[in-house]
Amino acid sequence: MTHARTSGRPKILLVVGARPNFMKMAPIVRALDATEAYELRLVHTGQHYDPSMNEVFFSDLALPDPDVHLGVGSGSHAVQTGAVMQALEPVVDRIAPDLVVVVGDVNSTFAAALVATKKGIPVAHVEAGLRSFDRTMPEEINRVLTDQISDLLFTTEQDAEKNLQREGIAADKVFFVGNVMIDSLLHALPRAVPPARIFARRDAAFGRTLEAGFAAATLHRPANVDDPAVLRRLLTTFAAIAERLPLVLPLHPRTAKMIEQHELSALLDRPALRTIPPQPYLVMVGLLKAAAVVLTDSGGIQEETTGLGVPCLTLRDNTERPITVTEGTNRIVGTDADRILGAVDEILGSGGKSGRIPPLWDGHAADRIARHVGAFLKTDSQTPAR
Ligand code: UD1
Repeated sequence: MTHARTSGRPKILLVVGARPNFMKMAPIVRALDATEAYELRLVHTGQHYDPSMNEVFFSDLALPDPDVHLGVGSGSHAVQTGAVMQALEPVVDRIAPDLVVVVGDVNSTFAAALVATKKGIPVAHVEAGLRSFDRTMPEEINRVLTDQISDLLFTTEQDAEKNLQREGIAADKVFFVGNVMIDSLLHALPRAVPPARIFARRDAAFGRTLEAGFAAATLHRPANVDDPAVLRRLLTTFAAIAERLPLVLPLHPRTAKMIEQHELSALLDRPALRTIPPQPYLVMVGLLKAAAVVLTDSGGIQEETTGLGVPCLTLRDNTERPITVTEGTNRIVGTDADRILGAVDEILGSGGKSGRIPPLWDGHAADRIARHVGAFLKTDSQTPAR
């Protein structure tokens, strides 16, 4: 990364692996870098490897190129988690960091935390304490285990502290700092790309229809896309929504693969529906900001729509981010077609639920993290050490 090696400065290793990690890590890198107190090393595990899930995010987010790329790729959970651990261990040995920072809940998050903690290196987990209470979600396992072995736990909402307390985690390790996803969102907002531009070259007439209001949808959770019956039902529902207003569906590679495998693409063949490849961050922010309604099974998008004040319908039976429902614009609607369509009609009729911005979702979460890291590593003489 940017800093030349200077002896005496604590070393911090920051690990990213999959798309949702990038927007969480970018503001943390910026805030830590601004202190000039550390040597920072960024590792990309390579859990996500398609250019559309990688390069465009690094440039949109101003995230520096990784110092180390582990290139682990896809695989079963055991294979992917094991591959990250095996490839990361020698990197950790070589760099000998004073702290390892992990974000979110993907396989790379847990794998990196486990490597570090077994070597006696403290781990900071950003976005700690979120719980869906659904252990069939692979991310829930990653969340619970990463929190158990972390030394600094940074939370985005107050419920997270209660969850951690219930799991026996000492309160003096837990810090409510706000939401780094929102730091990235607010940073990107002035540069967000208007949605019509996605279609400007090849499909300008469709692009113009978006101006009168449209729905944006995303789908990638194994529970929604790996079972062909559920996937068929959701795609059929999207087609029905496209009878009401134009619908734009950026397709995650997992979902694209399943649609092809089960020969479901004809379901999406509607005049007012477009599937598009995974989009760069600035395009995605522009799409979410301008949408009349967002339908999603993503965790991050539930938060981004709350941050933007845009109505969101979550196509799951639970959420690990309850504040997006209690304070924000999110509603949990599951995967039943009638329930989803009823909720869309309600939003189109009434404008949907108006939300409030949750506490500390103010664009400064990463600065708070940097201050706590300073206290923990005792580099910040202004902040009392814990
Ligand atoms: C992962 C995270 C999930 C996160 C999601 C965001 C875990 C357990 N899951 O799910 O929490 O919300 O990323 O995108 O870590 N693939 C590609 N190209 C890529 C990446 C994946 O084609 O760049 C395909 C692979 O064939 C793979 C499938 O997508 O089999 C799933 O990828 P994987 O990384 O296992 O999990 P995600 O579903 O992306």
